[in-house]
Amino acid sequence: MPQGIRLDNLTYSVDGRTIIQEVDLFVAKGVNRTILGASGVGKTTILKLMLGLIKPDSGKVSIDGRRIGALSDGELIKVRRRIAIVFQGGALFDSMTVGENVGYRLLEAGRPEGEVERVVREKLSFVGLEDTINRYPAQLSGGMKKRAAIARALASDPEYILFDEPTTGLDPIGVYNVCNVIRLLQAEGKTILMVTHDLETAFNVSDRFSFIHKARMIFEGTREEMLAFDHPAIREFLHPTDESLFARQ
Ligand SMILES: Nc1ncnc2c1ncn2[C@@H]1O[C@H](COP(=O)(O)OP(=O)(O)OP(=O)(O)O)[C@@H](O)[C@H]1O
Ligand SMILES: [Mg+2]
Repeated sequence: MPQGIRLDNLTYSVDGRTIIQEVDLFVAKGVNRTILGASGVGKTTILKLMLGLIKPDSGKVSIDGRRIGALSDGELIKVRRRIAIVFQGGALFDSMTVGENVGYRLLEAGRPEGEVERVVREKLSFVGLEDTINRYPAQLSGGMKKRAAIARALASDPEYILFDEPTTGLDPIGVYNVCNVIRLLQAEGKTILMVTHDLETAFNVSDRFSFIHKARMIFEGTREEMLAFDHPAIREFLHPTDESLFARQ
């Protein structure tokens, strides 16, 4: 059984509305994949399904060949420890310093303070934020907050890292810094799955792409294959025109 995260024929609906329909996806270990799609198509929902935070109506999610729906709570916690997510908003705790944000889960897990401090410094240095350890999130720029959230996700040394819109709302330098961190993580052998509607970020960091449209995964392949793919939704996404104006919802 190949190592990775697998979605098999996954369907998920809320209040009778199908958000994810019959989606198959395989994120092979070591790969850096991006799921692209317009706003509101269900990208964040896919990440929540992968983590087992919500349950599909049908289909299954497996991590390294183990179906997460079949795991006990204890086993699920263990599997989840190997997967980190950097949520769309970053979601740092405002009342904690950056250092406390990065280290609190390790402290909660009973790791010795000295060791936690070492890990916190190492992860902050990895994202270029070693000087912010005693600052509060409100004192950081948007791009710094995103990187602090990445450092926090890295504290548990995950094998898989899921990124939800990691560069949305950042200026070009902020985008560059976050993309750089994601590429460094891949170079370290981490498996990365990003969901975004930001094409530039996706092309900057990923080797494989999936495209979601109307709840279905309509494409998977390389950048070149996507650029050549003949589907109106993908063409519009890649090259919006005047006809796209107000076309959605
Ligand atoms: N708990 C929920 N209750 C009702 N509707 C929901 C819920 N979660 C998601 N949805 C709906 O599911 C759809 C997909 O949401 P999701 O957040 O996954 O989209 P997205 O692709 O991540 O969007 P964005 O690019 O704006 O972040 C949306 O239409 C949203 O309104
Ligand atoms: Mg989202």
